[in-house]
Amino acid sequence: MITIALSKGRIFEETLPLLSAAGITALEDPESSRKLILPTNRADVRLIIVRASDVPTYVQYGAADLGVAGKDVLNEHGGTGLYQPLDLNIAKCRMMVAVRNDFDYDSAVRQGARLRVATKYVQTAREHFAAKGVHVDLIKLYGSMELAPLVGLSDAIVDLVSSGGTLKANNLKAVEHIADISSRLVVNQAALKLKREAIQPMLDAFAGAIAK
Ligand code: PRP
Repeated sequence: MITIALSKGRIFEETLPLLSAAGITALEDPESSRKLILPTNRADVRLIIVRASDVPTYVQYGAADLGVAGKDVLNEHGGTGLYQPLDLNIAKCRMMVAVRNDFDYDSAVRQGARLRVATKYVQTAREHFAAKGVHVDLIKLYGSMELAPLVGLSDAIVDLVSSGGTLKANNLKAVEHIADISSRLVVNQAALKLKREAIQPMLDAFAGAIAK
């Protein structure tokens, strides 16, 4: 049995064509089914539906052989025990620093102000501001980061931006680009050795189906 870990939403939707290229079709849709283990057309392949940030953990421990995880999530996880053979070029967005429209970020940085930054991506934020030599106090949040500067919890946020619609709707502006983000295939290293006959053709099919 080959187990593939995916998260609901954009990653699931955009992984379907890649699975299809490998001859794998999901028999149920996670948006309508509450099942967490989804069968496929192949008796030897199943999908498991986990939180996006948990995908690397399931693959690291071998509970899933393969998974699809954003670079944002992989950077926070550290990637220990994971083979990352392919950038799937899906679920693309940008990791950005954002502040209120009326906040002068550049002059705050120039003056050496100590900034409060709210984010789900603490590791990414720590590395970014350390590289710039900006002193920050990081506040860990689990979602709705855009709210933090509006109610005085933080001066800035580090978050994913796709269309920019959420920033705009909340009177925020992006002031720094940290990284381009896309989703990667992650593979358990032991599984790749033990089940190479089943896994390698999937990797080849995915590689051939990646949008340029
Ligand atoms: C992400 C991100 C932003 C939003 C950006 O949240 O955290 O809030 O999308 O998208 P936009 O630029 O197109 O408006 P998501 O909806 O994935 O939920 P999350 O907070 O659970 O990550």
